[in-house]
Amino acid sequence: MTDSINIVGTGYYLPEKVLTNADLEKMVDTSDEWIVSRTGIRERRLAGPEETVSMMAAQAAQAAIARAGLTAEDIDLILLGTFTPDRQLPSAACLLQARLGVKEAASWDFSAACSAFLYGLEMGTGLLRTGKYRHILLVAAEKLTSVVDWQDRNTCVLFGDGAGAVVLGLNGGQGRVIDCTIGADGSKDKLLEIPAGGCEEPITPEVLEARRNFVRMEGRETFKVAVSRMARACKTLLKRNGLSPEDVTWLVPHQANLRIMKGVAKAVGIPVERVYINVDRLGNMSGATVPIALAEMDHNEVLKKGDLVLLVAFGGGLTWGASLIEW
Ligand code: ACO
Repeated sequence: MTDSINIVGTGYYLPEKVLTNADLEKMVDTSDEWIVSRTGIRERRLAGPEETVSMMAAQAAQAAIARAGLTAEDIDLILLGTFTPDRQLPSAACLLQARLGVKEAASWDFSAACSAFLYGLEMGTGLLRTGKYRHILLVAAEKLTSVVDWQDRNTCVLFGDGAGAVVLGLNGGQGRVIDCTIGADGSKDKLLEIPAGGCEEPITPEVLEARRNFVRMEGRETFKVAVSRMARACKTLLKRNGLSPEDVTWLVPHQANLRIMKGVAKAVGIPVERVYINVDRLGNMSGATVPIALAEMDHNEVLKKGDLVLLVAFGGGLTWGASLIEW
């Protein structure tokens, strides 16, 4: 019999500090009405100086490990999806490993923007199938507010900080990972980028003056591609597994924008009542949104045994991914 790959524990961490739309009205030319009607976001979390990616990841990971009934010693691989690591070198995954007291387990960062958790699931499930590992810690964590241009109203109202984690194990546990699909289109790199700070355009006084070290997004075009790509990824997975939209108990989409989430649900044929939504409270935390949503659903007992959960995400790269999980 082929081993089943399961999510055996979930965890999340959110900074305590809340940044409301009213706070943003004092910072840029915007309004609560504009932000809510265009995005569905009412507030988001803002990490403080001590709340780095590895710190938030460690909090989320400790919760996931505890809920799995495991200890740090049981973890033999760490995957961390982020594009806002604590430092350029070493990886935030290595810093996370040290914070957790996990000994010698291979640990690395990977970059897939908002699709990080889905990319991580594809990697984690594949690596478990090799038989070399028993438990893989998969975390997506982002301190997006550290790369947001607080003078750009087009983007600064959208993002927040947080971390979500799962422990993946073999045979047994709550969420059986049925299937994953991931993809990318690198030709659309300019739709969503941080232009400077890499080897192509190192930081100089001119770069800082032009604010090219912050996130830039072509919102309208990104919106269109996001809806069509996420819908396509969902349909691909359902078809490949002989399932229909009616079989899906919960659609858990990347929480970028309520209008995008509703657009994806409509295109796939899933009623909005079966879409899990927390974008109003937390904004877009990039790759961390999907595992945080899943962990919230798990901890609040929204998920019931046998529920079919469809995760889907889309982000910079461009990247996208979807996964089917039987709870
Ligand atoms: N407050 C008030 N007005 C604003 C604001 C604001 N915060 N931001 C933009 N506007 C203005 C614009 O300047 C524009 O004015 P103009 O018509 O005079 O030029 C007007 O509002 C409309 O702007 P649009 O860009 O057309 O607004 P839209 O309805 O498309 O909403 C948004 C913008 C929310 C960014 C939307 O396009 C979106 O959500 N895009 C996709 C985001 C996404 O999915 N990103 C991918 C994942 S993120 C990741 O990977 C890190």
